[in-house]
Amino acid sequence: EYWTTERLNRLYKDWPAETIDNLKAKIAKSDWRMGYHIQTETGLLNDPNGFSYFNGQWHLFYQAFPFGGIHGLKSWTHLVSDDLVHWSNTHKPMVPDNEYDRHGCYSGSAINVDDKLFLMYTGNVWEKMNEVRHPYQVGAWMDKENNITKLDQPLIANPPKGVTGHFRDPQVIKHGDYYYAFLGAQTTDKQGEIVVYRSNHVDRDWEFYSKLDIGNDNLGYMAECPNLLFVDGHPVLIFCPQGADKDSFSYDNVHPNAYIIADDINWDTMKLVNPSKMRQLDEGFDFYATQGLNAPDGRALISAWLGLPDTTYPSDDEGWEGGLSLVRELRVVDGNLVQQPVQETKSLFLDTESTFNGMELPKQSLIEFDVNHDSDNQIAITSGNTHLVIDIDNDCQKLTLHRKDVENDGKDETRSIRLNDGKINNCHLYFDNTVFELFINDGYQTMTGFFFHEDTHLNLNWTDVEDIKVTKLANINAP
Ligand code: FRU
Repeated sequence: EYWTTERLNRLYKDWPAETIDNLKAKIAKSDWRMGYHIQTETGLLNDPNGFSYFNGQWHLFYQAFPFGGIHGLKSWTHLVSDDLVHWSNTHKPMVPDNEYDRHGCYSGSAINVDDKLFLMYTGNVWEKMNEVRHPYQVGAWMDKENNITKLDQPLIANPPKGVTGHFRDPQVIKHGDYYYAFLGAQTTDKQGEIVVYRSNHVDRDWEFYSKLDIGNDNLGYMAECPNLLFVDGHPVLIFCPQGADKDSFSYDNVHPNAYIIADDINWDTMKLVNPSKMRQLDEGFDFYATQGLNAPDGRALISAWLGLPDTTYPSDDEGWEGGLSLVRELRVVDGNLVQQPVQETKSLFLDTESTFNGMELPKQSLIEFDVNHDSDNQIAITSGNTHLVIDIDNDCQKLTLHRKDVENDGKDETRSIRLNDGKINNCHLYFDNTVFELFINDGYQTMTGFFFHEDTHLNLNWTDVEDIKVTKLANINAP
C-alpha cells in the first residue's frame, strides 16, 4: 500500500522533487486530459476556493493534493485570469505548514479589503489522526504580487457551542458595517446547519452571530460549502447537504449540491424570507462544492468542482483527478435559477464543423441542437464500448442522460430531468474529451459530469433532433 497515512499527510517541503516530475511524465501520456477546463498539473483537485476579482484580475484557487490522484494533504493552488476562461497558475500556492492548518488548508473564500485580498479558510488539524478533528478558522492576506501571509492566530479557535468538529468552509461577504462569515456545521445531535459569524475588522474580533434560518431543516448530517449570493435581487443560498433525506429532496449522487432562492434576507434575524424548496444545482453525475461570487461588474458567477467526495475516478491511476466547471453566470428568470457559461467562453470557439451523422467528434466541441417536438430525440457520443447518450422522450418533458464509461465495470448509469410545465426546447453540450456540461433550455437546467471513454476516437450520431451544429473549441491546455 503506497498511500500510507504518513504519505497522505507528509508536509510539502518533505516530498522529493522527482515525485512531481514522475507524475508529469506519466500524465503526459494520458488520453483523458481536458482542453479548456481547469485541471491540475499533477494530483487531485476538489473545491474551488477564494473566487474573487482583485488587482485587475480574476483569482480562483482550488483545493489540491499535487502528489497523487487521491485526497491527501490539501493546499490551495492559485490561478489568475483576465477573462474567466484562460487561467494561469501563479505557482505560489498556500500550503499547510503551521499548528493551525497542519492537516490541510481546507476550503474558504476571499474578499477585497483596501488594496489587499483577505483569505479566510479552515485549518484542519487532526488531534487524533483520522478520528478527532479540530477545525480552526484562519486567515491570510495576499498582496498585489500574489504573496500570501498567514495570520499568527486563528480567527475562530473553536466551533460554537453545540457544534462538532465538522465546522468549516467560511464564505466571507460584507454587508453594512460588518463582515459576515457563513460556515458549514454539524450539531452535536448530528444535524447539518449553517452558522453565521461576524466582525467589523475581517482579520480579528469574529463572534458567533446566529444560525442561518433557511426555512428547511433537511440538511442531513453536515452542510458543506455554504455560499450566499445575490442574483437579480434574490438571495440564493448554495450548499452541500450531505445525507439530506431523499423523500423530500431527490438526488442520485453520493452527496448533493443544492440551492434555495428567497425573496430577501433579514440580517437581524438571519432568516431567508419566503425561501423556495431545496433544489439540485446540477442534475448530472459529478458536480459539487460550488463557490459563488458577486463580481464587481454586477454579475453573479459560480465555479464548481467536477467531482464528488468519497468517489474514485479512473484517472486516479494516472496520477490526477478532478476539474473545475466553466465559470457560469447566474440569473433568476421567473423564479428559476438559470445558468449559462460566461459570455467570455465564446473566445474558445473555432470553426463550425461540417456536421453529419456518424462524424468524428472533435475532443473539444460544442454541440447545439433544437428538440423536435413531434418525436423522440436522441444524440449519442460513442467510443469503443463506452457511450454518453441524451434521450428526450416523445412528449419532450423528460430528458435522460445515459453514461456508460470505463468506470463502474461499464454499467449504464442514468440521470433524468423532467419539466412538468413545458417542453425541452434546446440543448447546448460543452464537450471536453472527458467532461461535459449540458445546458438545457438555455440553462434552465444543467447536467454535468465526467465521461471516461474507452477509445481515443469519439463518434457522434443522432436521430430526429433539429438544427444540430458542432463547433470546434480551442484546446488551451495543450502544452
Ligand atoms: C468539500 C470539502 C470541504 C472541505 C474540503 C477539504 O468537498 O470536504 O468541506 O473544506 O472539501 O478538501
